[in-house]
Amino acid sequence: MTKILLVEDDTLLLEVMRSILEVEGYELFPAPNGKQALDLFVAIKPDLVVSDIMMPEMDGYELLESVRSTPQGVTVPFLFLSARTERNDVSRARSLGVDDYLFKPFDAPELVNAVRARLDRRRQVELFDTRAAHLQTVIMLANVIETRDPYTAGHLERVRRLALNLAFALNWGNEDITVLEFGAILHDIGKIIVPSLVLKKTGPLDEEEWKLMRQHPEAGARMLEGVDHLRAAIPYVLYHHEWWNGSGYPRGLKGEDIPREGRLLAIVDAFDAMTTNRPYHSSMSADAGMDELKRNRSIYFDPEMVDVFVRTYRR
Ligand SMILES: [Fe+2]
Repeated sequence: MTKILLVEDDTLLLEVMRSILEVEGYELFPAPNGKQALDLFVAIKPDLVVSDIMMPEMDGYELLESVRSTPQGVTVPFLFLSARTERNDVSRARSLGVDDYLFKPFDAPELVNAVRARLDRRRQVELFDTRAAHLQTVIMLANVIETRDPYTAGHLERVRRLALNLAFALNWGNEDITVLEFGAILHDIGKIIVPSLVLKKTGPLDEEEWKLMRQHPEAGARMLEGVDHLRAAIPYVLYHHEWWNGSGYPRGLKGEDIPREGRLLAIVDAFDAMTTNRPYHSSMSADAGMDELKRNRSIYFDPEMVDVFVRTYRR
C-alpha cells in the first residue's frame, strides 16, 4: 500500500486531508510537527510527504532538509502546503528539493491530483532507472560472450542500433522497442555453450561443430526463461536464425509463422555479418550488403521488412 506522511499542525485540516486521501486507498501517517514527522519518516519510509511549512518545533523547511539528507529521503516526492498570504521563501524550498506546492485553501480534487501526479512521476522514473540498470547488466554479460568471439567485435552494438532503427521505421510501439533492445543485445547469449575453438575457427565447420552452433538459439532461450524481466526477449534469441523459406533453425518455421522479432533480427544480424570481416569471408560494402538482402527477399528474409530496411538505412 502506498504510504503518505501528512504533516500539519492544524489538526482539523490534518483530519480533512487524511479522510480525503484515505478514500483514495492510501495509507496515511499524520504528524503535528516536523520533529515527529521526521521520526515517523525514518520509521515508516513513506512513498510521499505532504507537509505544512509554518509549524512549531520543526518547520517544513527544516523537515525537508532533514528528509533529503537521509538515504531513503533523497528522491521521495515532497509537497508543501502553503497559504498564499504567507510570504514563503519559494527559492529556499526549491534549493532544498521540494517537488510541488499546494496552496491553501485547496479542495479535495486538487489534493488528490497533486498527490497522484507526483506518485505517477516517481513510478515512471523508477521504472526507467530499473530498466537502465538492467540494460547495463545485460550489456556487460553480452560483452563477456562477445570477447570469446573476436571476429564479431562491435557486432552487438551495431545490431542493436540497426534493429532499433528498423523497429522505429516499422512503427513498433515503445514497449516492443524496449524489449527489442534487450533482445538485440542478448540474441547470441546461447553461444556460451559453443567452445571458443569452434567460434574462432577460420575454416568451414564440421558436422559436429555445426550441431553445436545450431543449438545456440535454444540454449540462449533456456538461459532467459527464468529471468522475469528478460523473458519477453526470448523470441529474438530463439528465432533469429529462422529463414523465410523454412530452411532455418531451430524450428524451421516459414514466413509469417516466424515471430516478427526473429524476422527483424535475422535481417540486421545478417546485414552486419556481411558488411564486417568474419573468419569465413571478408566484408562487403553496405551497398553490396543491401543488394544481397534484396536478392534474398522471400528466400531468407521477410520481403516487406527488407524493403523498409533498405529504404531507411541510407538515412
Ligand atoms: Fe546467432
